Amino acid sequence: MAKEIKSVNYGLEKIFEGAQDFLPLLGTDYVEFYVGNAKQAAHFYKTAFGFQSHAYRGLETGATDSVSYVLTQDKIKLMLTTPLSSKSSINDHIVKHGDGVKIVALWVEDARKAYEETTSRGAKSYLEPKVEKDEHGEVVRAGIYTYGETVHMFVERKNYNGAFLPGFQKWESDYNPPIAGLKYIDHMVGNVGWNQMDVWVKWYEDVMGFENFLSFDDKQIHTEYSALMSKVMSNGNGRIKFPINEPAKGKKRSQIEEYLDFYEGSGVQHIAVATDDIIKTVSQLRSNGVEFLSTPPEAYYRAVPGRLEEFSHELREDIEKLKSLGIMIDADEEGYLLQIFTKPVEDRPTLFFEIIQRMGARGFGAGNFKALFESIEREQAKRGTL
Ligand code: FE2
Repeated sequence: MAKEIKSVNYGLEKIFEGAQDFLPLLGTDYVEFYVGNAKQAAHFYKTAFGFQSHAYRGLETGATDSVSYVLTQDKIKLMLTTPLSSKSSINDHIVKHGDGVKIVALWVEDARKAYEETTSRGAKSYLEPKVEKDEHGEVVRAGIYTYGETVHMFVERKNYNGAFLPGFQKWESDYNPPIAGLKYIDHMVGNVGWNQMDVWVKWYEDVMGFENFLSFDDKQIHTEYSALMSKVMSNGNGRIKFPINEPAKGKKRSQIEEYLDFYEGSGVQHIAVATDDIIKTVSQLRSNGVEFLSTPPEAYYRAVPGRLEEFSHELREDIEKLKSLGIMIDADEEGYLLQIFTKPVEDRPTLFFEIIQRMGARGFGAGNFKALFESIEREQAKRGTL
């Protein structure tokens, strides 16, 4: 396993040499989910993941088509949206995909320019630049489609000082469970269909000005039964990282195929959120009822010290503690990382979350892929979808 890691070439320093970043992104703004029951989903994300009530839009604020709850935790903003009648087009998305991510919003300095730069390079329009105002100022938003029915919304909020967006009111709640130490979105992964990975890699290069800084082929990401391929795309300042997966042929059905079948198309597979203290975060999430994939076998943990030693890193955490929580460890030249994956957070085996703590490593846990996928396959076998 370790040899595979060594062969991974991080070419970050070579990226964007002399290249002009025509789409400067300040960070992830918000992630919007279309869900069947936003009120209950909001309760779940508060109770289970420690998100805090932030903003609301619904019948009480004059909205008639849909209702949205906005939750925050440190830099992360999640929006949960449900249609209020059968006439809303949001229903079509939920009928086809189930609950899932519709919008990955990106914070920009100039939304009109972001829209012009991307649509002139071939992006399909979702929303032409639109100015929304209230007593707190104005926000400009514009959107383009990425893979499947997923959208990137550009959000310009430099002239706005309200809670979230015009039309929303501050959401005060008497129910405020403690935060779980989730800080920011580290990366968001998309699953696309057979032979579509390179199509979308090129789309992110051409339309968004991203670079492919890390690739994994099916020889690196496989188990006895199934395989996948993955390429990581990053924007100019490295704040936005979007790995893209496609299935690869194996003896049985790849987890990516399972996702595509149940999501009925391409979409967001997982959202990785960063913490500074994964032991504390995962302990809390587990006691809140968050379900994680099964813990890797004993042999996995026996191999960890050797793996870290190979790169001369010292593990600061207690390995027994990590093992008892099912947290996985990976290392590369620059450091190590700690990570764990939840089970899907809806009944269709589609979207899930990753909790990650980086201790210098900039990778994505390639050394854990095999243990992770074997764990996913055990779940697939239970579902009869392997
Ligand atoms: Fe990940």
